[in-house]
Amino acid sequence: MNFVRVFWLAAVTVIFLGACSSHSSSNYDKPTSLTVGEGFTNPLGYYESTPRFSWKAPLDNKKSTQQLAYQIQVASTFENLMGKPDKWDSGKVQSSAMSWVNYEGKPITSREKVFWRVRFWDENNIASQWSDVAHIELGLLKNSDWKASWIGAKETQVTESPSQSTLATPQYFRKPFSLDKEVSKARLYVTAKGVFKVFLNGEDVTANDALPPGWTPYEKRIETLTYDVTSLVNQNENVLGAIIAGGWYSGRIADLKETDHLKPPRFLTQLEITYSDNTTLLVTTNDSWKATQAGPIRFASNYDGERYDQRFEMDGWTKPGFDDSKWSTAVTELVTPDTLLRPKRHSPVRNIKQLTPISFKQIDKDTVIFDFGQNMVGVPSINIPVKEGKEVKLRFAEALNKGSFYTENYRSAHSTDYYLPSKSGVAKYTPTFTFHGFRYIEVSGFDDSKVPVKDWIVANVQHSDVALYNNFSSANPKLNKLFENINWGLRGNFFDIPLDCPQRDERLGWTGDANAFIAPSMYMADVYGFWSAYLKSLREEQTEDGFVPLYVPFVKWINWTSSGWGDAATILPWELYMMTGDKKILDDSYPSMKAWINYHESQAKDNISSMMTFGDWLQPYPEKQGKGANRGDTDFSLISTAFFARSVELTKKTALELGFNKDAKRLASKHKELAKAFRSEFFDSNLNVVKGKETQTAYLLALAFNLLPDNEVKVAQARLVSLLEASDTHLRTGFLGTPLLANVLQEAGRTDLVYALLFKETYPSWFYSINNGATTTWERWNSYSIEDGFNPQGMNSLNHYAYGTISRWFYEGILGVKPLLPGFKRAVISPQLTSKLGYADGSIPTPSGTIDVSWNMASSGFDVFVTIPFNTTAEFIPPAQYKVELAEKSNGEVLNQWTSLPTGQYQFRITLEAKGSNGSKRTL
Ligand code: BGC
Repeated sequence: MNFVRVFWLAAVTVIFLGACSSHSSSNYDKPTSLTVGEGFTNPLGYYESTPRFSWKAPLDNKKSTQQLAYQIQVASTFENLMGKPDKWDSGKVQSSAMSWVNYEGKPITSREKVFWRVRFWDENNIASQWSDVAHIELGLLKNSDWKASWIGAKETQVTESPSQSTLATPQYFRKPFSLDKEVSKARLYVTAKGVFKVFLNGEDVTANDALPPGWTPYEKRIETLTYDVTSLVNQNENVLGAIIAGGWYSGRIADLKETDHLKPPRFLTQLEITYSDNTTLLVTTNDSWKATQAGPIRFASNYDGERYDQRFEMDGWTKPGFDDSKWSTAVTELVTPDTLLRPKRHSPVRNIKQLTPISFKQIDKDTVIFDFGQNMVGVPSINIPVKEGKEVKLRFAEALNKGSFYTENYRSAHSTDYYLPSKSGVAKYTPTFTFHGFRYIEVSGFDDSKVPVKDWIVANVQHSDVALYNNFSSANPKLNKLFENINWGLRGNFFDIPLDCPQRDERLGWTGDANAFIAPSMYMADVYGFWSAYLKSLREEQTEDGFVPLYVPFVKWINWTSSGWGDAATILPWELYMMTGDKKILDDSYPSMKAWINYHESQAKDNISSMMTFGDWLQPYPEKQGKGANRGDTDFSLISTAFFARSVELTKKTALELGFNKDAKRLASKHKELAKAFRSEFFDSNLNVVKGKETQTAYLLALAFNLLPDNEVKVAQARLVSLLEASDTHLRTGFLGTPLLANVLQEAGRTDLVYALLFKETYPSWFYSINNGATTTWERWNSYSIEDGFNPQGMNSLNHYAYGTISRWFYEGILGVKPLLPGFKRAVISPQLTSKLGYADGSIPTPSGTIDVSWNMASSGFDVFVTIPFNTTAEFIPPAQYKVELAEKSNGEVLNQWTSLPTGQYQFRITLEAKGSNGSKRTL
């Protein structure tokens, strides 16, 4: 056998060395990657008092395949952990679970820090060594932990009838305090109704964070952050300082105006100092704080930008010695029990990296446009020559419209920053309380005696601080570009909540978009915590009758719900569960899933739904004209009934997982009824669509959601294929149909068509946008074209993650990995090979480690290389019309079965099956 991969030899060498060393030790090496909750490493300010523990096998594990048992120990000190764990010792627990193991020890309370470690036994009952010690420190878990009061500037009180501009003017706070003993520990617990920045002795504690605490349903729950400020406190004089702005709390949301501005932003902090002698001191927000609105940030708004006036700078205000006698006394409001204060459940938005311009163009004496080469989200930092009193203006754009600066697709969002210098020289400025979606920045108002240079500006890329895996590549550069664009779509829209888009006057957590992108994003990045936090907000926003708003958090803008959107209540938890195997997400969501089903029921008669819907949003070539065209041509009732059935099915599956067998039975028969009603209401006996237009999406919904009798599946598949062929293999799907396309076609044995759609260069297609300069995914397939500029129909965000949904198939189709059991404990590996692609290479994150798959074309057929992690079993299935010619383990052992492969490295030689063995033959 003549396999070409060099790593093959290398892998064998490593295994050989591993085998040698195994003789010298009776224990395995230590488990690694210890995390708690949805994947947090040694968290500070953690949110759960009963953490769930997860770990992975030792990195060099080559000796065993399965975990037989584990032991977890938890203690209040490192010493106790090593000696007598005083919180919990699970003892040896017979279980293969390496993730989401529930804490069952003594209560862990607010502020407490605990230490933990784990070891495991393999299938031969041989123990690993103990892991390194990990730790968890809790935040403040209850409102009663807060001794602080909310503070604000007097002018912003509702009783003062503040104007919109008063509320949009940031508030500055200051509190000097002194310490008289040596400090061993200092923790700053902090949050805002609005967004904050906090300083201790001149140091920006939040330097790397953007717009904390983020966005939750503020009336119900506000998240709090914890910072370790031990190294920032002084022995004697200290000053705490803070600035707050409206953010998502009181700034305008969407095109809401008056109503939202009536809420005054407020600040809350509690600095807890522990002295070396174990006594403590609290510094809390109260009426001893000073406040002013006369600071240099004169205006701040997420959508509209920020205005900075250098004349208002207050040198040294964050340090001791500043004269704050002109500041007024802060007004206070009590922390009440009705709005829960809870530790943040996921990483805040942070400054992740910087981009420098790839080019710039001076278009006027004092105007220059910088191009960063990448559509992104964040804020700039300028370093620009300025003249006293001459305002610098920063405007943002996602694309030039046939060469000119274009901001119309931001709609009413002004998205402009201003800097007014009080002296000539070089202005250094980074906006604090806003964010923009852009590729281009137009800078005007600089000192026009100077010649622009690239160094005048950098762009700070901001997003929720989640790790991107960068785990797919192939022989096709455009496919790789698409993958890169989808990654940028993820970066841009994972902004504390999953946004529809990051730039125009919307930037909302639209549920339908989330349905399309949750699974792909779980393959691409460490985003379980992010989604779990969003779902918590969704559950909080759901009303008693089960209604789920269109976007979460909800603001009273569009207040109906839609099928395909509200179904996030069932789709999101189920997708998360399949990816992680964490039952907690189902436990937490089950009541909400059932309530959503009830809401569906209230909108249906005789199992046919009339729930309102946005339809197959932005479907190309709609028959309808005008605004209604955005909703596509698939019958609304067909869509709503299909999603009703889908939600019932997912709730049934959840009931089964959780052991609610009676519910499961009831839901199974409900699904049957719905499927029956769907079949007879929307199709005739020949499976022609009888309501609305015969669309790709109508058949996609029927097939993907199991709504047809078995004997009609092939007919429906054929209908779908003929619709695709009738459009010269172009998709005609919007937000609801597109996520279903690839898998339905693969199930139909038509992977060739998925590749045809994927590699299509003409409108509508993914490559079409790349051909027209896309660096992210777009809202419409043709939001912009080089020839015609921006699409005159509107809805032209150039950073919308929804159509990034296709990357799911990179992992599940091209690499071919799907979970057979939740959390990939058992996986199927069936790479969809094609001669259109020389090779593909990637990895699939699972709780037990990555499943790596790569394949390349060989002289006859394909070579496929697979790595299966510890505690995982996989079934290898060659794609339709192919067979396994040879299968080997990394040690050269030839395999005669590949339906139940344990951890290890494998290679397969795949060739076309002899003609006639599987019906007609198609060239892939
Ligand atoms: C958003 C979408 C969203 C839609 C509802 C739009 O304005 O940008 O992505 O799902 O409204 O149809």
